Amino acid sequence: DNYITTLKILIIGESGVGKSSLMLRFTNDEFDSEQALTIGVDFKSKIIEIDNNCAKLAIWDTAGQERFRTLTPSYYRDAQGAILVYDVNKRSTFQKLDSWLHELEIYGTRPNMVKMVVGNKIDVQSREVSREEGFKFAKRHRTLFLETSAKTSEGVKEAFEEVVRKILET
Ligand code: GTP
Ligand code: MG
Repeated sequence: DNYITTLKILIIGESGVGKSSLMLRFTNDEFDSEQALTIGVDFKSKIIEIDNNCAKLAIWDTAGQERFRTLTPSYYRDAQGAILVYDVNKRSTFQKLDSWLHELEIYGTRPNMVKMVVGNKIDVQSREVSREEGFKFAKRHRTLFLETSAKTSEGVKEAFEEVVRKILET
């Protein structure tokens, strides 16, 4: 059949924004309201079919908390895609996106890595960052953009699929 290669996709962003929850929703269609924070690196894979192509995604999820982060260079090495997550209800996590983009520039080894900015937790009614603001940030940095909820599933599948689609066409 038309089996393709493995694509490495990273999820990065501040602690508590929902990186592990987005991965769990996408790979297992599950949500845990008491999701434990990540220590070191977590990893899941999933085979997806997109536009009649199969791709195996290797999804890497790292700790947002600095003290729990290890092996940073190998985490970033050879990644084709990166999802940068913030919490739409917590402006400080949005303000940190610049430094996460900077990490990608330092450690990323592929010149045309596909990037997507994701505003998560849109199910919570205490928004501090508007959709418009998120969209403008993404546009300025030439990344894809979507808002999601790992809790309700809204936008989650679309986010991963858009990244994969873009990788496959570049
Ligand atoms: P670190 O591993 O510390 O970097 O955090 P993380 O970014 O992986 O966050 P995690 O997925 O552990 O989620 C943190 C908390 O937010 C957990 O209690 C989740 O259940 C909750 N959470 C994650 N996504 C959502 C969401 O879309 N909506 C709501 N309401 N809660 C969410
Ligand atoms: Mg985590």
